Amino acid sequence: MSEQATPATRGPIYLDYAATTPVGPAVVTAMMDCLGPDGCFANPASDHPAGRAARARVELAREQVAGLIGAEAREVIFTSGATESNNLAITGAARFHQQRGRHLISSPTEHKAVVDVCRRLEKRGSTSPGCSPIQAA
Ligand SMILES: Cc1ncc(COP(=O)(O)O)c(C=O)c1O
Repeated sequence: MSEQATPATRGPIYLDYAATTPVGPAVVTAMMDCLGPDGCFANPASDHPAGRAARARVELAREQVAGLIGAEAREVIFTSGATESNNLAITGAARFHQQRGRHLISSPTEHKAVVDVCRRLEKRGSTSPGCSPIQAA
């Protein structure tokens, strides 16, 4: 008879999936195809056979992600992580909408990567002073 895991024997429960999550087996397999020495690991911006193979792989992934979220492939931008994504989205939105106003509202509970972008925009005069982040009452 196999032992059943109980809450006491299962170990700690990881509750920070907003920060990072384990990936599924299919993702591990797909990534292993890219990461190993025989894989598609080349720089996708390089114009040599290995680079072009990597580029094709990235473009396939872009189309797959677009299909999952109902977007056009050209609308999917891969970044190195959340900090870069926050920078791109917040700075881009502030710049795109600058004619509509300079109010950027965030919350004090935002991640430092979000607060830092808001502060930088405020310093540059792209947003009104005091608009970011909202102070806790
Ligand atoms: C909202 C938010 N921004 C930025 C980060 C930092 O992520 P990265 O290390 O990918 O830049 C995290 C990580 O938890 C996050 O939750």
